[in-house]
This record gives sequence, structure tokens and C-alpha cells, in this order.
Amino acid sequence: MPAKQDIINTIAQIKRDHPGNLMAKYFDPDYYNSLDDTPRARLEKIIATGVQNPTSEMGAYAMHPDDYDLFAAQLAPMIREFHRIPKGTPIAQINDWDTSATSCDLGAIDPALRDVSMRVRVARNASTFPLPGAMDKAQRIAFEQVAITAFSELIQTPDFGGKYLSITPGTPHSIDNNEYDARVASHQMFKDMSADKYLNVAGISGDWPHGRGMYISAAEDFIVWVGEEDHLRIMSMQTGGNLNTLFERLHTGLTILGKLLPPFAMSDTYGAIASCPTNLGAGMRASLHVKLPNLCANDPKLTRITAEAKKLGLAIRGAGGEHSGAGKGGLLDISPSARLGVTQMQIMQRLYDGVAALWKLENA
Ligand code: ARG
Repeated sequence: MPAKQDIINTIAQIKRDHPGNLMAKYFDPDYYNSLDDTPRARLEKIIATGVQNPTSEMGAYAMHPDDYDLFAAQLAPMIREFHRIPKGTPIAQINDWDTSATSCDLGAIDPALRDVSMRVRVARNASTFPLPGAMDKAQRIAFEQVAITAFSELIQTPDFGGKYLSITPGTPHSIDNNEYDARVASHQMFKDMSADKYLNVAGISGDWPHGRGMYISAAEDFIVWVGEEDHLRIMSMQTGGNLNTLFERLHTGLTILGKLLPPFAMSDTYGAIASCPTNLGAGMRASLHVKLPNLCANDPKLTRITAEAKKLGLAIRGAGGEHSGAGKGGLLDISPSARLGVTQMQIMQRLYDGVAALWKLENA
């Protein structure tokens, strides 16, 4: 790391050139200078991704669960802005997984939406390990073993039974490159993280592919990623139907896994602790893959549709995931942006209402 004044100057420049970089926006040189060497080095590691990637929208990843409390001076205002929690309102996460009050059947919006692919995932991290950006190779491998032990129990359950596929070289669970590529192409497995410049600077993609893998249920509707941006990404997926079923499956699987694993890192303020401040709270990302060819027409960067979606509290990604363009026929990934200070059921409702609104615009 360069000297203190260099970092301060670099961040000041980023703040001028990239007003959307929330790390730079809320970086306070006085606070930074007030820190002793050890905490200052910790803060430098947290913000390095945003310093070296000026185009970052967030620009920071936590390295340890307590970073959010210890470095709240830097992180809390970024979190407030991203999750739109007004100053003065306490940050708090309330959970509500009770799907019984509403029905979110996409076919009820339009029969044409009956077959959209839907997925919901939560991020979880074990409190007994550093977050992925601060893990060494041995810890990544050890965590994968902890997860495999839990999966050996999950395999016995009727609805969640399945198998574990590791990309750690040379283990009894290892899959070959062809199978890895096929699982990535089918959107089941995560992409090569070492190609992600944000994760690289943060150390999150370190030691790739050691300690990484995925659990998949026999019905291929429940998946757990091990060793991606968070220790665990637990997800439920299905083609078409009711969001209620999708969310219920996730909740049941998460509850079972919670009992088989070391305690998750949780906070009263921030809910489920995640590497990225965008994923705090419910730690949940719920998304639909919907074709919106009219709204995507002549808009390769998806500027117009992104602005429309933002008004509805939704984020737009291309069908190939983060930082990708629209897929064939205007295929987009639509998801509610807020993750913190909203309950799981509010996220489900927001997705449903938002997609109904976009569908109306598309067909106007
Ligand atoms: N670190 C990147 C940024 O600040 C990505 C943030 C959100 N995405 C994520 N995968 N956590 O723009």
C-alpha cells in the first residue's frame, strides 16, 4: 500500500471523477488519519477494491464480520445510501418468511409469464472463519470440509437430497473442467472468480479454485455455492409458477442447513453478515429472467430500462449475470435492489409488483 497521503489523494481524485463510488464518497481523511496502524491497515484492505477499481459502485468488501461495527464510520453511510435508509432512522433487519398472507403467482399477471426462470438466494458466512477476502488457502479448504460434513447429512433428507461437486483439484468430490463449464453454462455453478477485478483486489478470489464447489439437490431446485463471494450462497430455483413455493423451499433448506453448520455471522443491525455491503440484511437476491425486447430495443447498455426499473426499486442485469448485456430476445435479470431493512416477504412482493409494472410498460 502506498503512503497515507497518496491514498488520501487518490481517493479524492476518484471522488471527483466517479461520484458513484460510495467508498470514495464517504471516505473521511480525518477519520482515516485518526486510526492507529493496525486498524488503518485493516481499513485499507477493506477499501482497496474501490481504490484500485474507481468504477466501483460500492467499493468495499468486509474481511471480518466485525468490520461493519469497527469501521462503521466508513461503512455505515455507504450502507445507508445503497439500501436507502435515511439518516436518523436506525438500521435494523427484521425477518419475515411467512408466505401465507400473499400469493405471488406470475401466471396471474399474464399467462405468458408462466415459464420464466426464477431464483432466490441468500448469503451466509460462518462466524468461525474470516470472510473470504481474508481466508488463506488452508482455511478455504477447511471450510469446504465443514460444508461437506453438513451436506453428508443434507443428502439424507427427502426434498433436499443430492450431491456435492467440488472444483478443488484432486478430491473425492472433484468434477472435471467439462462438467464445471456445463454447470456454469446452465447457471448452476459460479463463474471463474479470478476473472473478476473487484474480487481479485479484495482477495476474495484468492487460491482459486481451492475450497470451492456446489451442492445440488436431485431435483436441481436447491443449490449451495461454497467459497464464492461469501462462504455460502444458498439458493432455490425453478421455472415458472409461484414465487411463494420458491421462497418456501429456500427457507426450509436454509433452516435445515443452519442446524448442520457452525453458527452464521449475524448482527442485530445488519442481519446476515456478507462480504459485500450490498448483500447485508436479508442477504437476499431474488430474481426473474424475463424477456423485455421492446424495452431493450436500441439500448445496448440498458440505460433506459435500468432507469425505469430503478423507480420500482429494481436492478437490471443482463442474462449473463452482473456486468453483462441483455440476452437473446431481450432476456434480462430483474431483482429488487434493497436487501437490508426489508423483510424476505417484502422482497418477494417488490419483485412481483415490479415485474408486473415492467410487463405493462413492455406491452404498452
Ligand atoms: N465491488 C463491486 C462494486 O463495488 C460490486 C458490488 C456489488 N456486486 C457484488 N457482486 N457484490 O461495484
